[in-house]
Amino acid sequence: MRSLEPKVGDNTKPSWCSPVPAAPTPMFSKSLVVLAALATVLASPLERRVTCAGGQTTSNEACCVLFPVLEDIQANLFGNDTCGDASHTALRVSFHDAIGFSMTNKSFGTGADGSIFLFGETELSYPANLGIADAFNLEAPFINGHPEISVADFIQFTAAVSLTKCPGVAQPTFMFGRVDAKAPAPIGTVPQPTDNIPVILARMGDAGLNAQETVALIASHSIAGADDIDPNLQGLPFDSTPSTFDTQFFVETQLRGTVFPGSAGNAGEVMAPIKGELRLLSDSNFARDSSTSCFFQANVNNQQLMANNFKAAFAKMQSLGQDVSKMVDCSDVLPPVIPLPGAQQAAFFPSGTDQEDVEQACATAAFPSLPVLPGPLETVASIFQDPATDGNCDDDGSGCVLSEFPTAAKRSSSEL
Ligand code: HEM
Repeated sequence: MRSLEPKVGDNTKPSWCSPVPAAPTPMFSKSLVVLAALATVLASPLERRVTCAGGQTTSNEACCVLFPVLEDIQANLFGNDTCGDASHTALRVSFHDAIGFSMTNKSFGTGADGSIFLFGETELSYPANLGIADAFNLEAPFINGHPEISVADFIQFTAAVSLTKCPGVAQPTFMFGRVDAKAPAPIGTVPQPTDNIPVILARMGDAGLNAQETVALIASHSIAGADDIDPNLQGLPFDSTPSTFDTQFFVETQLRGTVFPGSAGNAGEVMAPIKGELRLLSDSNFARDSSTSCFFQANVNNQQLMANNFKAAFAKMQSLGQDVSKMVDCSDVLPPVIPLPGAQQAAFFPSGTDQEDVEQACATAAFPSLPVLPGPLETVASIFQDPATDGNCDDDGSGCVLSEFPTAAKRSSSEL
């Protein structure tokens, strides 16, 4: 297997990058030379940069291969997506792939290993993966177009890039060098909204993520919605601001549910506080279960805590099952994040709701007092469903064209 780290004594550089030439040593007095040398030694770990064939700079030449992928997905996969459906889809698939892992049972899979697509005919037929076919439709042509990186890396890289579309996210990290799966994850590795909190926490814990990290990851539902919970409605957001990574999800999930966006009686759904919004049973339970309610409430109106905890837990999730010591930090390839505009930093009660609607669950801290958004009762708009993601791959995995994937993946993972 090819190492991503440059080998000692190996002067042959890949064609896509070349080291930045070192500056000549200035001829000053002896003490100045010593000082300058010391400064160089101290600064060098931070300043070591390579210039890639496309002119971009990065800290490790192995990361150069990611720039053409980035350019392609920015222009052609995400296009004009501003934290909309394409971004949400790319983010969700990263979880469903990575969670196919157990610290105690090898048969659960090798984590963030691309198996969800490589073995899509198997994994996409699992009920918990309903809707992931959209992600397949979105990403498959690009994966086939970039056999130079593993399918596993493509999924996690695209998810990290998707986060940079969503105002409010902390600058994500990205470790590069995942090895692709040799077998599918079995059924049952992905939690379902009908699972109770002990069951979800046990599954997440078995994969290496504790209760606090699990709640931190649920912040992803701040930029999310459901297409398959209500069979008649798509793009139903989990909060009133599904295109910003703000704390409204944590506010609104704690409010008394009064209305369904569509029909009643759908598995995994409970009533939401505002029209148009969908609340998952599992999210409702995270907000109310004694083992998670205080972690959940702590995010309310605390943008920094939410963003930082999510960043750390997401980085951990993205490497589940992989040997991080063999991976390279390519975080500096990612585009800069978009800050949340000042006016949107503060959480609020949607119009028509107030403090009285809070179903207080955390026993040790009061729910923060928040202003009520002025204006008439809101109906939250559905998330626009991009027709570009509706390809030939059906929700049960049938129709997916996977035949080229194993070849591409084999080539890339054996070269890495
Ligand atoms: C741990 C328990 C979790 C459960 C039970 C759960 C469940 C769900 C369900 C049922 C949906 C709606 C799917 C649909 O009908 O289209 C959904 C959407 C979503 N989930 Fe989760 N989820 C969990 C954790 C996570 C995590 C850890 C992440 C990412 C780090 C994540 C990211 C998303 C995103 C981005 C969407 C929206 C997808 C889209 O709009 O296309 N979820 N989740």
